[in-house]
Amino acid sequence: MADQTTSKLVFGERPILVTGAAGFIGSHVSAAIMARGGRVVGVDNFDLFYGREIKSHNAREAGLAHGTASSRGAGVLVECDITDEAAIARVFDEYKPQGVIHLAAKAGVRPSIADPAGYMHANVTGTARVLQHATRVGCSRVVMASSSSVYGNPEHAPFHEDLDVSRPISPYAASKRACELLASTHHHLTRLPIASLRFFTVYGPRQRPDLAISLFLSRISKGETIQMFGDGSTARDYTFIDDIVGGVLGAYEAIPRFGERVWNLGNNKPVALREMITTIERAVGRDAIVERRPMQAGDVERTCADISRAQREIGYVPRTGFDDGVRKHWEWMKDRANETRP
Ligand SMILES: NC(=O)c1ccc[n+]([C@@H]2O[C@H](COP(=O)([O-])OP(=O)(O)OC[C@H]3O[C@@H](n4cnc5c(N)ncnc54)[C@H](O)[C@@H]3O)[C@@H](O)[C@H]2O)c1
Repeated sequence: MADQTTSKLVFGERPILVTGAAGFIGSHVSAAIMARGGRVVGVDNFDLFYGREIKSHNAREAGLAHGTASSRGAGVLVECDITDEAAIARVFDEYKPQGVIHLAAKAGVRPSIADPAGYMHANVTGTARVLQHATRVGCSRVVMASSSSVYGNPEHAPFHEDLDVSRPISPYAASKRACELLASTHHHLTRLPIASLRFFTVYGPRQRPDLAISLFLSRISKGETIQMFGDGSTARDYTFIDDIVGGVLGAYEAIPRFGERVWNLGNNKPVALREMITTIERAVGRDAIVERRPMQAGDVERTCADISRAQREIGYVPRTGFDDGVRKHWEWMKDRANETRP
């Protein structure tokens, strides 16, 4: 299998439907498809989880122009809720996409504890509708976002795709596992090729503002207190956005050869929370003011991806070290602040 950076992905005339296209990962994936000569129909409902203006900015940066279901062009964004049966059916009918990259979801572990039904509706019902319409209009494949959270707290690391994932510890994780099961069932019934990608904490430019790296960069740079949950020993396998985009496109290319497959997209180098804070202090040139808090319900202790399957089968090679990635993330935040300053 060719390395992801050298593989020649040919997209053809029909657009790829990217759900969640105004979000963090969706906007980068959309831009990457267009940069390689493909067309994108983005779908997003501008969920209120974070600011509409941030998502509009993401879409603009990605080159997606707001459109109706019948607009044409390399990159179109249709405001639509994937759980709205009539609306999502219309998008599939109008654009007849060649395939789908399904990233729309209610994301976030902690908020899912307060709203399990909302997470199940958006994530599971939404995925069921996307799969159903993808098959109906003859899509060649679906690549969808799962999450490292499906692993819960296993005894052994790194986490291999074949580990038992029957014990997710938050409603968000349970919804993602339910989506994987739905993918399996849908493939069994229809033979539609479907990849589920277990992303491990993604960071970089346009990261969701609720996630720790964005939040800490912002607060530490302003001299504001940050909250550290636990003793700082919890660890995450932070993965830079460009590496994730390479993996998503690699999976899009490869999945017809596999039928149905789960791939980890991580970095295989967990960073402890304490070390993450130190790296951010170095990037912004300021010491953190840390308030210690107890561990939060639903949070896992450590994530660490076994990426050997993705390496072998889709040519996935994460290239961005943590220091370098945090520096790029911080540069982008500073540029963004300058742009929005009156
Ligand atoms: N960022 C991470 O570290 C991470 C880790 C694991 C998995 N994931 C998954 O990757 C995907 C993308 O995550 P992200 O970090 O870019 O999040 P994001 O919130 O920035 O993007 C998700 C987008 O989906 C949209 N959306 C939500 N519900 C929708 C609905 N019903 N209809 C249409 N659009 C809807 C939101 O408005 C948002 O723009 C999600 O499925 C998430 O669960 C992300």
